[in-house]
Amino acid sequence: MDKRCIAICDSGIGGLRLLKMATERYPGEDFVYLGDFENLPYGDKSEEEIISIARNCYEKLVHFCPKLIIFACNTLSTVALNHLKGLGVPVIGVLPAVRAGRGLLLCTRATARSGYVKELKRQNKKLFVREMVGLAEKIEKYYEKGAEVDICNDFGSGWDYVSLGCTHYPLIYSKFLKIFKGTPIISGEGAVLRQIEKYVTTTNPKGKEGLTCFIGKESQKLERIFKNLLFFNDFKNF
Ligand code: DGL
Repeated sequence: MDKRCIAICDSGIGGLRLLKMATERYPGEDFVYLGDFENLPYGDKSEEEIISIARNCYEKLVHFCPKLIIFACNTLSTVALNHLKGLGVPVIGVLPAVRAGRGLLLCTRATARSGYVKELKRQNKKLFVREMVGLAEKIEKYYEKGAEVDICNDFGSGWDYVSLGCTHYPLIYSKFLKIFKGTPIISGEGAVLRQIEKYVTTTNPKGKEGLTCFIGKESQKLERIFKNLLFFNDFKNF
């Protein structure tokens, strides 16, 4: 049995939803979560900066001897995941979800301009990408101070699905639900959840409750928000 933890990181609270799903699905596992608030927002930074941030996150998390590191962040994953292959600890990441049909991908500027998304667009001619500059920070403020998040409403119509390509966005899922009414809303976290499976060694949730620990400057804030985070049962289109 591999007792090592699973380490997760994001620029802030965005990865908490994945953490919530992972702790509920694999309750015997130990998790470490890094909220890299010092570098928030990732989405406005250059490719070089994001790659260097990704390496830094890796270095910080490696100290906890994890069996797996997860970038719970589309920006880190689309821009830097390829640069972290073949290191000691395997790294996986949340990537934008796509499906057949006319899709609208909402994401950060860095994700939108990444080679990964360019290739995604090349392969999915009906995929449209919208940069949501500043939205991740607004969502942070909403969770911290209750500051209202205003999202522009001019997304057009006729979408077969909407893909939330930043892990912060599902945290305001109900707002997107109102904007896009009956259109399916998807995200990439479910794919990661399934990938975690092969690293999980604890089977009996009654036997041992895993530990979840928060690291970084604002660990208490993360813990508080995590505890109050509702599991989005209505958000099943992973
Ligand atoms: N939650 C992250 C993402 O998925 C980062 C957002 C940001 O820091 O700009 O892209």
